Amino acid sequence: MEKTQEEIIGEILTALDRPVVLIGMMGAGKTRIGQMLARRLGTDFYDIDDEIVKAADCTIPEIFERFGEAYFRDGEHRVMARVIDEALEKKTPSVISTGGGAVMTPATASLVWEKTLSIWVRADMATTLERVTRNIEKRPMLAQGKPEEILERLMKERYPVYEKADIVIESGDRPEGGILSHTLATLHEYLTG
Ligand code: S3P
Repeated sequence: MEKTQEEIIGEILTALDRPVVLIGMMGAGKTRIGQMLARRLGTDFYDIDDEIVKAADCTIPEIFERFGEAYFRDGEHRVMARVIDEALEKKTPSVISTGGGAVMTPATASLVWEKTLSIWVRADMATTLERVTRNIEKRPMLAQGKPEEILERLMKERYPVYEKADIVIESGDRPEGGILSHTLATLHEYLTG
């Protein structure tokens, strides 16, 4: 008999002994899926970009403009290290959504591969482009040229690193409930299959 979603969630929570970290390109849907997943699992949710903004007390475009990308990546690494450690101390495994470039910093990637269960949220170019252009002013990485060309270059550079994730979720344009059930089923299969 097929398991109910409640049973699937119970088994995920029993087997999961690490924080779940969502990685992938900007616009892939990491934050949206992370929030839904955390709500359904009844665990805490962290968004690394939001944590960086809180810690720096200025927006991400401002950090890039005033101090540059290298400075942002340093801060991103410190925030990731703090949040992962905080999450590891909790009784229930938290869900953490990261910025698209986080795992391109080798020290940040090591934390993710060694201490967490990683999920690569993947979307095709058309979906990614459509989503990022909705609020392009919030994406400093896309400010120096044609967004599609920059995304193409970033995908080429980043996909070989994203591929190291424990799990891949195709985000595409599924309805919200569909992507959540798909994520739960994939996570369950990985942990208990
Ligand atoms: C970045 C992605 C952004 C944010 C910053 C840099 C990137 O996060 O961290 O603008 O290098 O891809 P999202 O992936 O949540 O948009």
